[in-house]
Amino acid sequence: MIYMDYNATTPVHPDVLEALLPYYKESFGNPSSIHWAGRMVKGALEEAREKVAALVGCDPVEVVFTSCGSEADNMAVKGVAAALRGKGNNIITTAVEHPAVLNACLYLESNGFEITRLRVDRHGIVDLDELEAAINEKTILVSAMFANNETGVLFPVAEIGEIAARRGVYFHCDAVQAVGKAPIDCREMGIRLLALSGHKLGAPKGIGALIVRKGVKLHPLIHGGSQERNRRAGTENVAGIVALGKACEIAKAEMAAESSRLKTLRDRLEHGILTEFPDVRLNGHPENRLPTTTNLSFPRLEADSLLLNLDLAGVAVSSGSACSSGTLKTSPVLAAMGVEPALARGSVRFSLGRGTTEAEMDYVLDVLPGIIERLREQQ
Ligand SMILES: Cc1ncc(COP(=O)(O)O)c(C=O)c1O
Repeated sequence: MIYMDYNATTPVHPDVLEALLPYYKESFGNPSSIHWAGRMVKGALEEAREKVAALVGCDPVEVVFTSCGSEADNMAVKGVAAALRGKGNNIITTAVEHPAVLNACLYLESNGFEITRLRVDRHGIVDLDELEAAINEKTILVSAMFANNETGVLFPVAEIGEIAARRGVYFHCDAVQAVGKAPIDCREMGIRLLALSGHKLGAPKGIGALIVRKGVKLHPLIHGGSQERNRRAGTENVAGIVALGKACEIAKAEMAAESSRLKTLRDRLEHGILTEFPDVRLNGHPENRLPTTTNLSFPRLEADSLLLNLDLAGVAVSSGSACSSGTLKTSPVLAAMGVEPALARGSVRFSLGRGTTEAEMDYVLDVLPGIIERLREQQ
């Protein structure tokens, strides 16, 4: 079985699993308890906070643990909107954000906010002049992702941060796909809020974080106890938090070597497919993207048939189209990049990760031509 869908989720790293297990057994205390059982776990939370902060370039007190990336994105967008409502009602985002941001913005739009959605060019990148021009006296937030989940394309984050800071608006960055795969420094990049998610980097599902830089005004999404310095109520997911800390520690140590290893493998796969099928088109910027992701459009093919046949051959990939209530909808990300609907319907995302090997690349390159030819003949 070959897993090439690491952008969807990743297996828990064995060292992460080992680190988290004691927190389901002997170290089970509630960190808010003042007795020995609580004290046993309190330190582990703070240690994890330090490890997350070290990976993304912020202070440990700025790390707020959440249940997932979607919660972190919602907390950022809705939390700033609620806190700064009196100052302005304009939020700038982009056409290619994850639904966690896009739908939070849609919700705010139905509640009186004005949402500006920046378009992207054919490579999937926003225009900084358009961002600059879009900011007005009512703008309170710019929300732009670090790396796109479908194409891996990287936004010019430091430049966006510089513009937002100069114009006096908050910058929220959805870095769920980028954390652990690309160097991130909230301080240097002018990022005021940053969302991340454990299950994308070798921690389990059900843990994420929002970095809230000092001084940022933000209303909480979840009200209750005073956990997370009153930013996010609810008894902490101690095992998940320890796991996220460990995953961040591993990512910091291994990111450079792992990125270059995976880029070589990704390029080998991409080159092999593009050489065999010159009509296949790469979606996204050829260079400026995560080393782990390739999104390819196969003309005259439906991605879901290709996906199904690769699955039968034991290969798990993902399609850029989503079949909802019987209608095949093309990916909004590819549509925003100007990819024609027929090509977008034939787009497949291969995403690599820690377990990916050269032999797996060769296997895919071996089985793919037969599948493609068979599917094309059937049409
Ligand atoms: C860019 C991006 N943002 C947010 C999310 C949501 O993260 P989670 O699955 O932890 O809610 C994802 C998940 O795919 C993502 O790729």
